[in-house]
Amino acid sequence: MSKKPFYITTPIYYPSGNPHIGHCYTTVACDSIARFKRMQGYDVMFLTGTDEHGLKIEQKAAEKGVTPKEFVDEVVEKFKKLWKYMNISYDRYIRTTDSYHIETVQKIFKQLYDKGYIYKGEYSGKYCTPCESFWTDSQLDENGCCPECHRPVTFAKEEAYFFKMSPFAERIEKLLTETDYLRPKTRATELVNNFIKPGLEDLCVSRTTFKWGIPVTFDEGHVVYVWIDALSNYISALGFMNGEYDDFGKFWPADVHMVAKDIMRFHAIIWPAILMALDVPLPKHLAVHGWITFNGEKMSKSLGNVVDPFVLGERYGCDAIRYHILREMALGADSSFSNEIMINRINSDLANGLGNLVSRTVAMADKYFGGTLPAERETEPVDDDFKGVIINTFTEVEKYIDETKIKQALEEIFKAVDRANKYIDETEPWKLGKDESKKTRLATVLYNLLDAIRIISTLLSPFMPETMPKVWEQIGAEKADTEYSKLSVFGILPANVTVHKGEILFPRIDVDKEIEELNSIIKKNMEDAQSGLSAEEKGEAVQENIELSPEITIDDFAKVEIRVAKVTACEKVKKSKKLLCLQLDDGMGGRQVVSGIAQYYKPEDLIGRKVQLIANLKPAKLCGIESNGMICAGELADGSCKVIFVDDSIPVGAKIR
Ligand code: MSP
Repeated sequence: MSKKPFYITTPIYYPSGNPHIGHCYTTVACDSIARFKRMQGYDVMFLTGTDEHGLKIEQKAAEKGVTPKEFVDEVVEKFKKLWKYMNISYDRYIRTTDSYHIETVQKIFKQLYDKGYIYKGEYSGKYCTPCESFWTDSQLDENGCCPECHRPVTFAKEEAYFFKMSPFAERIEKLLTETDYLRPKTRATELVNNFIKPGLEDLCVSRTTFKWGIPVTFDEGHVVYVWIDALSNYISALGFMNGEYDDFGKFWPADVHMVAKDIMRFHAIIWPAILMALDVPLPKHLAVHGWITFNGEKMSKSLGNVVDPFVLGERYGCDAIRYHILREMALGADSSFSNEIMINRINSDLANGLGNLVSRTVAMADKYFGGTLPAERETEPVDDDFKGVIINTFTEVEKYIDETKIKQALEEIFKAVDRANKYIDETEPWKLGKDESKKTRLATVLYNLLDAIRIISTLLSPFMPETMPKVWEQIGAEKADTEYSKLSVFGILPANVTVHKGEILFPRIDVDKEIEELNSIIKKNMEDAQSGLSAEEKGEAVQENIELSPEITIDDFAKVEIRVAKVTACEKVKKSKKLLCLQLDDGMGGRQVVSGIAQYYKPEDLIGRKVQLIANLKPAKLCGIESNGMICAGELADGSCKVIFVDDSIPVGAKIR
């Protein structure tokens, strides 16, 4: 009987800088699901790759004095090296500069044009260069910046092709609200309210102002612009409209596209619309996760907060890193990365929980029976509850994997680890070992533990593929004992199984010492990275891109009153993700200011700090809350911002001039 196909994809990454832990999440998550599905007997296609066109790449290559292709070739090697290091078992790697992909994109573009879904027009509007996206005024954020990256937008006008989105609005709304496509489904409301209800706007799909893209075959000077190029990778990689591969019929529609929240809209609205226009079936699921954040900010190279996966892997092993990031991130939510949480997690779950379970069990089998258990058994009622919990784990994990809930799947497996450690406490094998008449009971207890470890470690093997074979070696499990069909059955290991004492799987980490060392490595890495970064990446404005507002006189400037104020209280504005409500001591009896900095600061980061207040600004209401003035912040190249704090020696109320 032929195996059932299963197709899973990561986004294709921009090879514009070194990959970091933030990039690893989706790839490790998809890898774990792909491995799980292979273990279940599916014929898996796991696709990842790189999204290599666009203005940003063209600019970076020019900065380095190399061609765009030379530039991406170098970075792509870094991604591939990382994926190898992280044991990513992708089946296919697509580069959007591959000729077969180019062929597909050109054919798709032409077909959409021939069908009347793509037409030529003129674009004039707000444009975000780093995101390569045009935005309408209503889509801009509260500061009039790009809603995705919060950098400033510029006015742009050019001849362009557009993709008609409106014919698909109704079907897309149903897809999001009435089917299981979007995970978590709770995100459907924001998509429907922000993009579909106001009327789906046509999408700009060609550009004439840069060259580094796939040429539109029937109109020289136009290159296909970002999303039709990028999104089509999911089908070109299967041979759709090209002769390179021949498994579109087998693997499409995809079972899971996994992406982070910043590119949800493109996968939830634009991709279905393109497929509808092409009359191609829609993918089954879109799983959206949050970001790995560092000190509350999205981990990214430009913020200088990258955590190098190679450094972490060298110290704790790849599996520990894979486990940590998967265990921390719930579907749909952000997860904050901290060395302390990571080390504590490795110590508690891997060293104390799993590692200890395996080493204690194997050590006792070795000590009391010379490594080989006798085949006789003596069961007690306590065994049944234990076995029941272990068997049940399998059902729960399978269910969670099908729902792309990896964190929950891991939680279930570690409940089984805890249950096994509790079984040791309940049965007290070290006491049984002292009494010759209890040897049969002791062998039964150890056998139950070894067989539970067989199930647990096999369930864990897609997540920690390097370590689990070492566990099998230690508990004496043969390959056949770890087959998927045997995970719901107890008693698979041979009755007289032989264990092999081995290395400690996850050595315990000295938290304080390690954190100190890690911090200094990260500090140095950040300094090195900063020195190798372009001005834009360092968060500095790139000279050429500064567009000054019209000149003002000193009298104009004198109209603005900037004063020092101290934050006395601060809280998040309930209905908004971006706003904080600050109470300020301004030396004039106090006032309230609402500021769009909630993504970058926690209320407690600000309380007690002195800030620069635009004190004579006309009051305004933000999210229904009155704001009397504005606090000053510096804008970084990626659109995030940092409040400009004032030295504590300058008194509240002092005028800034
Ligand atoms: N090229 C587009 C995707 C096209 S897919 C048809 C792109 N590339 S990207 O390299 O900028 O990002 C790829 C993915 O990595 C996105 O889902 C992005 O959110 C994710 N991540 C980048 N930094 C991340 C974190 N700090 N945390 C989690 N995911 C992160 O977008």
